Amino acid sequence: MKRAVYPGSFDPITFGHLDIIERSAKIVDELIVGVLNNSAKNSLFSIDERVKMIESKTKHLPNVKVVSFNGLLVDFMEQNEATIIIRGLRAVTDFEYELQIAQGNHVQKPDIETVFLTSSLQYSYLSSTIVKEFASYGGDISKFVPEDLIPQIYAKYNIKEN
Ligand code: PNS
Repeated sequence: MKRAVYPGSFDPITFGHLDIIERSAKIVDELIVGVLNNSAKNSLFSIDERVKMIESKTKHLPNVKVVSFNGLLVDFMEQNEATIIIRGLRAVTDFEYELQIAQGNHVQKPDIETVFLTSSLQYSYLSSTIVKEFASYGGDISKFVPEDLIPQIYAKYNIKEN
């Protein structure tokens, strides 16, 4: 049984994240989307909002569940008997940071492996930060996030959709 965790802040979930979830769900038996509940990080969405948004967009995937976590990722992995960390790589700029956390996690728990999926070409520029930047000015985010999440995102900036 190959159980993997796809960890992240998902503030908010984007088409890029959903693409990685869909693709990794095909190559592991079970996938846990681990949503980091970090009070030190100033998240736009609460942990419950982020979990619910992801759940609503992954319910068609029977081997995917969404769980929030605090503390170290390697501890969350162990609690869930998961041995694979999935991360998406968009561009070379992601690599240095991702290499550090993958190697740090591997040193902590040598049984845990990180598997990188390269982002699909059409999402290689996309991040939650880009979504928030465009949304904060009332910009078009329909190519970044699923349509039904847009009102919820605009609402954070008191913007009404046209
Ligand atoms: O979506 P993000 O913010 O790039 O995800 C980063 C994440 C959640 C994978 C990373 O910050 C993480 O694993 N945090 C949990 C705390 C931890 O284990 N830290 C040590 C490795 S950075």
